[in-house]
Amino acid sequence: MNPSRRRFLGQSARWAALAPVVPVGRLAALHGEGAGAGVSEDAGARRGNNLAQDAWVARARARIPASSGSVYMQTGGIGPSPIEVIDEVKDRLDFQNQGPAHPDYATDMARVEPDLRAQLGRVFGAETDEVALTHSTSEGISIVAWSLNWQPGDEVIISNIEHPANVVPWYVLRDRYGIVIREIDLSSGTHLLDEVRAQLSARTRMVSISHVSRNNGRTIRTDESAELGRLLRARGIRYHLDGAQGPGCVITDFRSLGCDCYSTCGHKWLLGPKGTGALFVRREALDDVQLSWAGSHSHATMDYEGNYTLLPSAARYEFGTRALADFAGLGRAVDWMEDIGLGRIDDRIQSLVDHAIEAVDATSGLTMTSPRTRPDRSGVFVLKLPGGCDATALYNDLRDNAGILASPVRQPRDLRLSIHFFNIRDEIDAAVAAISERCA
Ligand SMILES: Cc1ncc(COP(=O)(O)O)c(C=O)c1O
Repeated sequence: MNPSRRRFLGQSARWAALAPVVPVGRLAALHGEGAGAGVSEDAGARRGNNLAQDAWVARARARIPASSGSVYMQTGGIGPSPIEVIDEVKDRLDFQNQGPAHPDYATDMARVEPDLRAQLGRVFGAETDEVALTHSTSEGISIVAWSLNWQPGDEVIISNIEHPANVVPWYVLRDRYGIVIREIDLSSGTHLLDEVRAQLSARTRMVSISHVSRNNGRTIRTDESAELGRLLRARGIRYHLDGAQGPGCVITDFRSLGCDCYSTCGHKWLLGPKGTGALFVRREALDDVQLSWAGSHSHATMDYEGNYTLLPSAARYEFGTRALADFAGLGRAVDWMEDIGLGRIDDRIQSLVDHAIEAVDATSGLTMTSPRTRPDRSGVFVLKLPGGCDATALYNDLRDNAGILASPVRQPRDLRLSIHFFNIRDEIDAAVAAISERCA
């Protein structure tokens, strides 16, 4: 066997066994350079946190370069990959480019996509043939948005807390086909089912909302989503969830959510390569979720006399030459997260959010727009700044002068702290203190 291939196939080192990255830059002090894999949780320990838990966090965190150079709270925008993922992509590219079309290499690379479909299905509650690999959440949303034969006056229901990726496609369909966009209020505390019922009409053909909102972190609970799914299915209305902020941030099980389609990405909370994603489509809905884009690889059979059959699986939504090294990296990212434990990650995020709520409650002038209680909340933690404090100006100031990476979101006074498991309580305290100093 080719030595490089052997090296590649032999790569099974697990995150726990590997050496930590030493923190660099101006935040080394905050991160306790040299102390226990570069992380000081003294403040957390004083509050009685579980030190055993903190040790695994320190080990995993030490593998994420971005976490040592800044207070990284932008996972809801783009997640920082661990070294294992970065190396996987590099190694796969090296391997592939020794002979991209040569069977010695191409045969191995051809396993990447089927393996990843199976893995994502297993981890996130779909059958392998319900998984299509995409390059972003937006790609999945567009596949779904264009999957109906829209007629003038047909209606789609979205919400007031959507990302542009789940708004712009509907504007385009409105302008091209005359569809009507209706909006529900998913601010914290409203009732999902009541909101949807109030907007349903005989013309409703699709409901498309965020599983976890990037604007307020509200999470559609699995039980309410399943109930909504039953309501919509009984009326023949397609139900799509935008899951960009779902997997890796909240426990996500496609089947239990009861939607027909679920679009997500690898480059946020799963910490995968940028430009990776997946679309899950319920097997029973495959023939109704029609293709608008197709090409080589969408088909099972075709000839040049006008005949074709599509693949019997969601892989029919894929076509063309694909970024296999990146998809391999996504597989590695999911492995890495699973090795740590998705349940453990979820618990850790929730305990950090508890801490963030306490810190905000103790700071006059700051409030939160995110839901306060589990499971309606998530690691997407959004603050309402005091009057006169602009979120974009604050975001620039925090980045340039305090090394704290946050994100302004939809409203001018809303600032998002994305809290992932690798964040530490000291960072939350530092962020809240820096915001308070500048704004409160
Ligand atoms: C809720 C939501 N949907 C969609 C997107 C777009 O994601 P992608 O870049 O994977 O297309 C984002 C990105 O921030 C998001 O937060």
